Amino acid sequence: MNISITKTTNPMQKPAPDAPLGFGKIPTDHMFIMNYTEGKGWHDARIIPYQNISLAPSAMVFHYGQEMFEGLKAYKGVDGKTRLFRPEMNAKRANASNERLCIPNLPEEDFVEAVKALVKVDEDWIPTTEGASLYIRPFIIATDEFLGVAPSKTYLFIIILSPSGAYYASGLAPVGIWIEDDYVRAVKGGIGYAKTGGNYAASLAAQVKAHDDGYSQVLWLDGVERKYIEEVGAMNIFFKIDGKIITPMLNGSILPGITRNSVINVCKSWGYEVEERKISVDELIDAQKSGKLEECFGTGTAAVISPVGKLRFKDDVMTINNNEIGPVSQKLYDTITGIQWGKCEDTFGWTVTL
Ligand code: PLP
Ligand code: COI
Repeated sequence: MNISITKTTNPMQKPAPDAPLGFGKIPTDHMFIMNYTEGKGWHDARIIPYQNISLAPSAMVFHYGQEMFEGLKAYKGVDGKTRLFRPEMNAKRANASNERLCIPNLPEEDFVEAVKALVKVDEDWIPTTEGASLYIRPFIIATDEFLGVAPSKTYLFIIILSPSGAYYASGLAPVGIWIEDDYVRAVKGGIGYAKTGGNYAASLAAQVKAHDDGYSQVLWLDGVERKYIEEVGAMNIFFKIDGKIITPMLNGSILPGITRNSVINVCKSWGYEVEERKISVDELIDAQKSGKLEECFGTGTAAVISPVGKLRFKDDVMTINNNEIGPVSQKLYDTITGIQWGKCEDTFGWTVTL
């Protein structure tokens, strides 16, 4: 892929090294953009100064939500090297989302090359404070000017970057999660496994309700029986019950998280029995009552490893591990971030150095 690069003549002010970054609030100087036209394929790959894009009000993405996005991070290692974490997994998942949404495939090597090229141009924007990184948001939108419901014939693939700190304001402190028993996020056969805006739009009403009650995010139950645990708003979920690590199986309605896959591999390498299976909310309540629910944590690119200290279901609140970070959650956080920041040996071969 040939990527033309036009650098900004008017660089933006970078945040001060000690400034709180929050998550996804600050853009960098440049963005990647590429067009798709039916009959021509993907073309005109370019890196340009970060800027607004112009679309017709009838552009299809505004009406029927034909879009997909990805999320990954670039880390400035303790050795000064810039690393990406398993970007080829994001490229593969992007195409799984594309396929479900009738968006044309993007060659996986082009996805990774575009990410690398943009990060290289804005490498100076990678924060170096503890726990901070450069969040990378690739996305594709349907741009045909047409109000009929059909797959678009033109698209834009864009990548933007944002220096970011912890996703939750509480950092690594345990979060409280609301188990939603009214709304559902996704059903088998739907778009739950795709990373697309519609899933997140559908989640907002429950998230607002949970926030109003003091909870950080929603834990979804399956859309049919409302009985089995699925995933959290922006992360997959794990439990340590009676010494075993348990996470809901990939069933088509939850996102196949890259951190989830990494955590499963790391836990297995430590000798834990890891079960990917259906887990009902009743099983969870029983485990908690019998003192066997030892830890609960979420996993995600933005959230990293996020210990869960409280789970609310209807009128009951389960407190887990005294609302403290459990030893497995802490060790996983240290190991995964250790690999990402080049502090530990990358025995799995997961990082890509720029
Ligand atoms: N589930 C949802 C709904 C998400 O938005 C995310 C975040 O990307 C995840 C799970 C975790 O996926 P990953 O570990 O690939 O970031
Ligand atoms: C990510 O972790 O990359 C995500 O996409 C989560 C996002 C919904 C904030």
